[in-house]
Amino acid sequence: MLILGIETSCDETAAAILENGTVVKSNVIYSQIATHKRFGGVVPEIASREHLEKIQDVVNEAFVQADVTPFDLDGIAITQGPGLVGSLLVGINFGKGIAFAANKPFVGVNHIEGHVYSVAFEFPAPEYPALALIVSGGHTNLFLILEPGKYKLVGRTRDDAAGEAFDKVSKLIGLGYPGGPVIDRLAKLGNKRGIIFPLAEIKDQRLDFSFSGLKTAVLRYVREHHIEPVTDPQNPSPQILDLCASFQNAVVRALIRSVRRAAEIYHPKTLILAGGVACNSELRASLQHLADELHVPAYIPSPIYTTDNAAMIAAAGYPKLLRGECAGWEMSADLSLRLQNVDVESDTWKKKQRYRL
Ligand code: KG4
Ligand code: ZN
Repeated sequence: MLILGIETSCDETAAAILENGTVVKSNVIYSQIATHKRFGGVVPEIASREHLEKIQDVVNEAFVQADVTPFDLDGIAITQGPGLVGSLLVGINFGKGIAFAANKPFVGVNHIEGHVYSVAFEFPAPEYPALALIVSGGHTNLFLILEPGKYKLVGRTRDDAAGEAFDKVSKLIGLGYPGGPVIDRLAKLGNKRGIIFPLAEIKDQRLDFSFSGLKTAVLRYVREHHIEPVTDPQNPSPQILDLCASFQNAVVRALIRSVRRAAEIYHPKTLILAGGVACNSELRASLQHLADELHVPAYIPSPIYTTDNAAMIAAAGYPKLLRGECAGWEMSADLSLRLQNVDVESDTWKKKQRYRL
C-alpha cells in the first residue's frame, strides 16, 4: 500500500511516500528555520506563506525520489491539527487537490499521533502497553498506549513545552532560535552539576510537567550573576557552558522523573521517545538508561524522524486508510484535535492485567 504523507503544521514543509506503513520510499523536508531565526521564533503568517511557496516542489520531489506518480498511490495522509491554522490549510488543500485529481482517498492525521508513529521505520512493532514521551516546541505529553490507536494522556505540561523552554532560555543568553541544538552542543562542554536548578512538583498530578519556573530560575541566575549574553557562539564563557549543562540536565531530570513514575504505575513493555526535543543527546541517553533498568526496549528514532516530517504522518494514516477510512471534502484544519483519551481504570485492559497478577 503506497501512501503520500503531507506535513505543514508548523515550520517544516514535508512530504513522504511510504510503502506498507513501514518502508520509507522518500522523505523530503524543507525547514523554514533560516527564515524564522531572525525573529527569534516561528512567525505564523510568514510560515504559511513559505509553505505555499514550497509545497509543490517538496511534494514533487517526494514523488520523484520514490519513483511513483499520484496515480500509483493508495491514499493520502495529511496533518489536520494541532498546529498553525494557516500552515495546516496549505497542506490540507494541496493534499485534497492531489486526491481529487488522482481520485484517491485521503485522511486527516493528528500531528501528535504522527510523532507516536515515528518509531514505525526503524523498530519492530512495539509491545503494548507502551509509554510514549512526546516532546517538541509545542507539546510535552506522556501517553500510555494500550494498543494501536488507544491512548491515555497520563502527563502533560502545565505551562511551557520542553522545546519552548530550550528556545526561551537560548534567546535569554543570546544563543538564538532554535535553542535545543545549540544548548545541547554547549552543554557537553559544561558542568551539569555547576548550578542546581530545582524541579517543579505538581502536587495533584505527579506525572505532569512544569517548565516556566525553571525558565524564571535561569533568568534570576543570569541577573544575579551578571551573565552577559553570548556574542560569539563559537567561544562562550565557562559560566554559559555550565548554565547550558545545568539547565538541560534539569529539563531531562524532570522528563525522566515522570516517565519513571508512570512506568512504576503502568508497567509498560516499550518506551517511546519522539518530537524535536527527542534529538537531545542527554535525553536520549537517559531514556535508554531508564529502559535498561526496567528491562524494556527504548524506541528512540533517528533525529530525521523525531523532528517534524511527513513519513510519520503517512505511517499514522496507514491503519486508517487500510480500514477504508476516507475524509470528506469538507475536512479542514482542527486546531484542538486531541488523541482519544481512554479511561485506564475502567478499561478492560486493566481488568485483564489484574487477573494476571
Ligand atoms: O518537533 P519539532 O521539530 O517541531 C514542533 O512540533 O515543535 O520540535 C522543535 C523543537 C524546538 O523547540 C527545538 O529547540 C527543539 O525541538 N530541539 C531540541 C533539540 N533539537 C531540537 N531540544 C533539545 N535538544 C536538541 N538537540
Ligand atoms: Zn511536531
